Amino acid sequence: VTAEKGGFAHFMLKEIHEQPKAYRDTMLGRIDESGRRIVLPDLHLTEDKIRSINNVHIVACGTAYHAGLVGGSVIERLVRIPVMYDVASEYRYRSPLITPETLVIVVSQSGETADTLAALREAQANGAHVLAITNVVGSSIARDADDVINTLAGPEIAVASTKAYTSQLIAFYLFSLYLAQVRGTQTADEIAHIIAAMHALPEQVESMLANVDAIKAYAEHIAKHEDLFFIGRGLDYAVAMEGSLKLKEISYIHSEAYAAGELKHGTLALIEEGIPVIALATQESVLEKTVSNIKEVKARGADVLALTHEEHVAGLLKSVDQAFAIPKTLPILTPALSVVPLQLLAYYASLARGNDVDKPRNLAKSVTVE
Ligand code: AGP
Repeated sequence: VTAEKGGFAHFMLKEIHEQPKAYRDTMLGRIDESGRRIVLPDLHLTEDKIRSINNVHIVACGTAYHAGLVGGSVIERLVRIPVMYDVASEYRYRSPLITPETLVIVVSQSGETADTLAALREAQANGAHVLAITNVVGSSIARDADDVINTLAGPEIAVASTKAYTSQLIAFYLFSLYLAQVRGTQTADEIAHIIAAMHALPEQVESMLANVDAIKAYAEHIAKHEDLFFIGRGLDYAVAMEGSLKLKEISYIHSEAYAAGELKHGTLALIEEGIPVIALATQESVLEKTVSNIKEVKARGADVLALTHEEHVAGLLKSVDQAFAIPKTLPILTPALSVVPLQLLAYYASLARGNDVDKPRNLAKSVTVE
């Protein structure tokens, strides 16, 4: 059994370690040799059609939805098209405004999630072009969508999704850059700059995976708690949501992810002495604001861990109890790095609690009921 897990104790750990390869494989053949252009030759979406899109809907469930939150924000920043997000089980029931100029992106590792498939059909029935980002070639969603970008993460066995999420991020980066290229919203140099930073991601993940002792020790610490908070702003908030879901589903520790600025509108009442708060502070444009939110929880006795870049560790240590550094990349690409310690945190917390890491209670790998 350990053989099929490649020598790892669990599929989840194996899959976390497969991420550098999944990033490389998902990028392979989709960036031209000059490193300056995205090539997606299999797309049916024509350049004219791309120019006519006036809004994007991103629809998915769970972790795939969280990848969509990052992806949509990147599309808005790089391409300046408005994006709406829905969890697939809600999409059809709110009468979404779908027109032929709407591009609907559905995201699904398995390609079999019933709610996501139903959302795809709703979108098509209303004339939208549907692009699927899936990890299973020939899956129902891949077959029914008008276009597919395959993530090349390889089979994901653990119920907790890891390499599928990060490969979905890579697919979103590629697709956003492609849209920007066609619509001319980024210069060739700007695109090349982002591509170069993407090429560095796999090695940066490897460096994090080579050094897990601190995160493991921290996981053993939080394993003794029943409640925990993740906070962040912007893309850090999107990653906080994913970190929180991962922790809940396999460690069974109750946790909530909050937009850091929203805490004082109610949730701050839950902060008491010793409660762990994990603050993601990687987005420089909002760093100062995040620090003031960290001070709000610190003043109420929270035990705060910050995830940030090396250059901010010393500064943040004035306001937090511990800080872990993640490698430096462009702000939009940071989720592809900052999620990794959170995956490891969930893994080691689950392990410390003696849970079945790969098969958490009450959950199925693929949810084929609505
Ligand atoms: C991820 O850790 C979860 N197990 C779950 O949220 C999952 O991402 C969701 O059910 C969607 O699955 P899909 O990507 O196969 O559509």
